[in-house]
Amino acid sequence: MKKGIVTGIAVLLPLIPLTAWLMSSWDEFSAQLGFWFYALYVPARSFGLLGFVLMFYQFMLASRIPALDSVFPRAQQLKTHRTLGKIGGVMILCHGLFMLIFDVISLGAIGFTFEKLLGIIALFLLINAVIAAWFIRPLQLSQKAWRGIHILAYLVFPIVFVHAILIGTTVRGYAPVRWLFIVLLAAYVVILVRRLIANPFAAKPRPADPRS
Ligand code: HEM
Repeated sequence: MKKGIVTGIAVLLPLIPLTAWLMSSWDEFSAQLGFWFYALYVPARSFGLLGFVLMFYQFMLASRIPALDSVFPRAQQLKTHRTLGKIGGVMILCHGLFMLIFDVISLGAIGFTFEKLLGIIALFLLINAVIAAWFIRPLQLSQKAWRGIHILAYLVFPIVFVHAILIGTTVRGYAPVRWLFIVLLAAYVVILVRRLIANPFAAKPRPADPRS
């Protein structure tokens, strides 16, 4: 019963930004903004919105939250964590690449703004963390490097929040989406602070192989 409710909420939550994105896209379609706008810019926004929610799920699933542990076995959480990580990773990568390609096609160059730079920094940090996690053995990372990459990875979510709040058409234009983002960020901060108090980074050992 509890499982069904939690899964239901997790499935329904992304529908909030997706519905708002559909509404804003509908308005844009009548504005005839050119092929590349609809082929790259519009889908890229949905990938960014979904990517943000999936990033939050990723964080929850990796955080050993007692309330979640009482509903789902750890092994199942880690399996979902890996699956969502791949789906979310591809979406976020597509978001960033589509936005950059759209810039090059429409402006002839990447239009660097502070807001966009935040997105680029977030994507760079995320790619770093994914590479570190997946290639931990061949890379032979030291404990210090592993910890550094992870501390930086924790900054990705707040950086993306600021990025989206500053330039996101859907986030800025639709109050339910804005509030969802604010609530997710607040939950992220609470979980992170609790986790750091209970298990400070300094004491966290580097795993032998996160995939095993
Ligand atoms: C190369 C890196 C990135 C670039 C160039 C980039 C570019 C952009 C641009 C131009 C927008 C504004 C779109 C609009 O008009 O609404 C945007 C929005 C957004 N981006 Fe990024 N971004 C990048 C990385 C990221 C990352 C890593 C995430 C993580 C999930 C992300 C999530 C979002 C979200 C949620 C929005 C709001 C979309 C909306 O409100 O419709 N971005 N990004």
